[in-house]
Amino acid sequence: MPIIEIKKYGDDILLQKSEKIKEITEDIKNLAASMVETMHIAPGLGLSAPQVGESVRLITVDLSVGENKKDLFVLINPEIIKKEGEIISEEGCLSLPDVYEKVPRPSRVLVKGSDLDGIVKTIDANELLARVFCHEIDHLNGVLIIDYLSPLKKKLIRKKLRKQREKGLF
Ligand code: NI
Repeated sequence: MPIIEIKKYGDDILLQKSEKIKEITEDIKNLAASMVETMHIAPGLGLSAPQVGESVRLITVDLSVGENKKDLFVLINPEIIKKEGEIISEEGCLSLPDVYEKVPRPSRVLVKGSDLDGIVKTIDANELLARVFCHEIDHLNGVLIIDYLSPLKKKLIRKKLRKQREKGLF
């Protein structure tokens, strides 16, 4: 499967709400396979379809970054159905080069979604896994980590990213 270029800050698709997937077509399966490969090579712990230019509700997560098959999750139409606690920790994003900021996330979430065979699963995720699921599901709603910062800090980071983009750094 081809590796896909990851969309960076400044691309409008990152700010859009993604469409629900109604049918698991070959295209969706191919997209998922490409996303897994792209995520592993990046490397990243998670990836969302809008980050590779497809505005559909599909995410991939793998805390082992390709080391352990059982750590890989490919979820269609994922939703957080329950959350508890809060942990504030530093987070980055493949679409926001060199931005690492403290983001509050639930310490535990129940995530419901379907796998590529259409089987609905519920995943009980804690700590880092919960964080990555929340981060990727945020992408499906057009939400980025900078949206959790104060207006001033957000403004400064947006300015820095705009300048880097103008210089052709990403
Ligand atoms: Ni991200």
